[in-house]
Amino acid sequence: MRYDLIAVKDPADWRAFHDIRRQELFEAKGRFGIYNENHPDDHASFAHPYLLKLDGVPIGTTRLDVRSDGTAIFRLVAITAAEQGKGHGRAMERLVEERARALGATTLYVNAADTAVGFYRNTGWTEHSWDPIELVNISVNAVQMTKQI
Ligand SMILES: CC(C)(COP(=O)(O)OP(=O)(O)OC[C@H]1O[C@@H](n2cnc3c(N)ncnc32)[C@H](O)[C@@H]1OP(=O)(O)O)[C@@H](O)C(=O)NCCC(=O)NCCS
Repeated sequence: MRYDLIAVKDPADWRAFHDIRRQELFEAKGRFGIYNENHPDDHASFAHPYLLKLDGVPIGTTRLDVRSDGTAIFRLVAITAAEQGKGHGRAMERLVEERARALGATTLYVNAADTAVGFYRNTGWTEHSWDPIELVNISVNAVQMTKQI
């Protein structure tokens, strides 16, 4: 079993990245017709979009937003439904954390879906209100959490 965390650049990887996000973070939660594949933040200088592949097959996504103050934000974290609960989210979290450290971050933040708070607690995050202004739109019910790395 081999994991690869791919920095998304190739068209086929962008396709898989958007498909996983739309399905797991929008349509699986009843949010149809609002996912935007052309969101400018995905291409911003601070943004590092990643695709997790398991033995070459795309199974997970996240975007790491790295800021100049030593903080980085995990955004839109998802594992495909058929692969959830098998340890892949934990593996992706560890791999993205390594990238964050290499990019100069020492503090991580996330707006955790209320249903995913247990996942973050189990992977070393604690609840911390880091920027309440972020709790709008799809993050309105999110729980803000942090982790020192
Ligand atoms: C949340 C998510 C990324 C976790 O990935 P995963 O591969 O399912 O999680 P893992 O199997 O690696 O679980 C790691 C640990 O977290 C726990 N865990 C996972 N999901 C959990 C949840 N929803 N609630 C409570 N605990 C959870 C597991 O039991 C496991 O604990 P253990 O190692 O102590 O036994 C994934 O389930 C997912 O994509 N969910 C739908 C989209 C979503 O809500 N994303 C989060 C947006 S912030």
